[in-house]
Amino acid sequence: MLTLGPEELHSSLSDPVLGSMGFLNEVMSRYPDAISFAPGAPYAALVDGVDIGDCVDAYLDHLRTDRGLNPVAARRLLYEYGPSRGIINDLVAQVLRRDLGIDVAPQAIVITVGAQEAMLLTLRTLIRSEQDLLAVVNPCYVGIMGAARLLDVGVVPVPETAEGVDVDALEAACVAARARGRRVRALYVAADFANPSGAAMDLPARNRLLAAADRHDLIVLEDSAYGFTAVPEQALPTLKALDRSGRVVYLGTFAKLCLPGARVGFVVADQPVRAPDGDRTLADELATVKTMVTVNTSPIAQAVVGGMVIRAGGSLAALAAPRAELYRRNLTLLLDTLDKLDNLPAGVTWNRPHGGFFVRMRLPWPADANLLNVSASTFGVLWTPMSMFHLDGGGRDEIRLSCSYLEPAEIVTGAERLAAFLRHVAG
Ligand SMILES: Cc1ncc(COP(=O)(O)O)c(C=O)c1O
Repeated sequence: MLTLGPEELHSSLSDPVLGSMGFLNEVMSRYPDAISFAPGAPYAALVDGVDIGDCVDAYLDHLRTDRGLNPVAARRLLYEYGPSRGIINDLVAQVLRRDLGIDVAPQAIVITVGAQEAMLLTLRTLIRSEQDLLAVVNPCYVGIMGAARLLDVGVVPVPETAEGVDVDALEAACVAARARGRRVRALYVAADFANPSGAAMDLPARNRLLAAADRHDLIVLEDSAYGFTAVPEQALPTLKALDRSGRVVYLGTFAKLCLPGARVGFVVADQPVRAPDGDRTLADELATVKTMVTVNTSPIAQAVVGGMVIRAGGSLAALAAPRAELYRRNLTLLLDTLDKLDNLPAGVTWNRPHGGFFVRMRLPWPADANLLNVSASTFGVLWTPMSMFHLDGGGRDEIRLSCSYLEPAEIVTGAERLAAFLRHVAG
């Protein structure tokens, strides 16, 4: 039997980043009774209530009444290969315009297999050669780090402050790259409740970032997976909505708003691209790349998500409201419970995000896989070491707590177990 050595396979496979999602699943399966603050999974009851058949019916009805397809053509659209750009672009364009102030044509959108594919397509398309680098906020979502690693894209970590990406450090990184004959082509950033830190950018910080992107000719890849959890009166415009120079490519996902199992996301890329046979848009190029990656996003999965949007009256805000309320309830409960814990060791501190799924906790000691095992086996509570999200060996004394899918009683018990664990480590 042919045996392959790791040195014969792509080097990304030996990178811990690629193993990080598997690592958490493995720890969780080893300790099924532990309360887990590890995964950023959606709250199960929200998902359990979805009637897939009804969603598909709603979408088929939309095809017949709004797009004038006859019943056979409508069904065929779901059953056959489809356009690589997608089939629910009209609905996505409508919710973006109505709910997020992002005004783009349906053709400027590509429907992808989750935000993950949007990241992969975008990097493949924008990073021309090894001279081009991707800046990422550090700590960073593993999905973009993994996509960059798979594509051999050089990554530049940029530190994060409580107000999101450190714009001065970003500018310094651009200058330093130029001095080495390279250029930072794009920045990956989440302005709203980042994964893993929960950090959010205020309005001046958003405008400062866009001005810096102009100065350094940067494309901004905005991931807004958790933007929908903001308190409606406090929600800030996305970078894409504020963008006046066409620098922002918006990466979207329906994983948290609809169903992660549908694997539907999208990318908004309305930037014009000069071409010999007439002008194109960046979305056209992404759709071309997609023909060689997943060909098209499952039309059946798109119909499920499209139907959920239609059933919510074509409004992202209506779809988001009950979900956001539930996630904010969980987050508030976690923060309140942490506040009430007695005798926590000195040096244990945490941030107080106003939305999203995550809290970042600092500890007075390194929080590694060994400590995680003690926490799980002896105290029945799991969390994620923050070092998994750092590119420069940082975050060793921090953990990420996620409360999105837990029941309120589990959050309280889990926080108490965490406190017992922390007291134990402190001795
Ligand atoms: C920051 C961020 N972006 C995107 C996603 C969702 O990606 P996908 O649509 O591929 O499930 C997640 C899910 O955990 C996330 O945390």
